[in-house]
Amino acid sequence: MNPVMGLALLLALEAGASGDAIPLPGPEGLTMSVGEALVKRHSARRFDSAAKLTRAQIGALLWAAAGITRADPAHPQGGKRTAPSAFGSASIDVFVASEEGTFLYSPKEHALLPRDTADLRGKLAGAAWAKDAPVLLILVANFDRYPERTSAPERRDYAFADGAAAGENIYLAAAALGLGTVLTMSSISEAATLLKLGKDQRALFVFPVGREVPEEKPEKDKAPGK
Ligand SMILES: Cc1cc2nc3c(=O)[nH]c(=O)nc-3n(C[C@H](O)[C@H](O)[C@H](O)COP(=O)(O)O)c2cc1C
Repeated sequence: MNPVMGLALLLALEAGASGDAIPLPGPEGLTMSVGEALVKRHSARRFDSAAKLTRAQIGALLWAAAGITRADPAHPQGGKRTAPSAFGSASIDVFVASEEGTFLYSPKEHALLPRDTADLRGKLAGAAWAKDAPVLLILVANFDRYPERTSAPERRDYAFADGAAAGENIYLAAAALGLGTVLTMSSISEAATLLKLGKDQRALFVFPVGREVPEEKPEKDKAPGK
């Protein structure tokens, strides 16, 4: 096992027993220009299952999706974030499903909160190819963070818009980190039960993330000698 993930596993097991938050490093490695990240952004559907993500990479991806950039003790979620949200509600939670278990990202602490010791990736992945990804990031909307005056259909619309904004940040961070990802929606109906979501929560998207395996080029397209 990769020593970094070995450490993560140890921490996860320790934290699972005590319920403590696991601090994340970073954000690190997000130094690519926005222009280059936009050019490199694409959907990846082939992942190297042996290439585990480091905690620094996970920290950078989570910070990009939901990290706090303008801390505010008066804000119920601890402040405004990297991604915009309707009413500044910071409505999106990000869950992490990995070999080590399932975790909830805490933007306030920039840490992982252990939720389940089970590896839920197989059930949450949807497509067979997504099961190879070492990590799945699941974006969950919290309807009760919107103003009371908003109707249920409005909340649904706001939730998907908020989720899409956070999701694009995941795409761009993955590009900057040299990782592959894709927005998927095929398994979100099972996610509510698997993640033990509340009545005011809704799973929106699942992002498998990992090192992308390039497509095999057909023989005719290969350069001589390759
Ligand atoms: C709302 C939405 C839902 C999507 N659902 C899926 C999905 O379930 N599975 C999948 O493989 N890709 C999904 N995608 C990714 C698109 O197929 C992909 O963005 C599109 O083919 C364009 O390719 P690109 O992202 O590489 O530019 C989704 C994208 C969006 C915006």
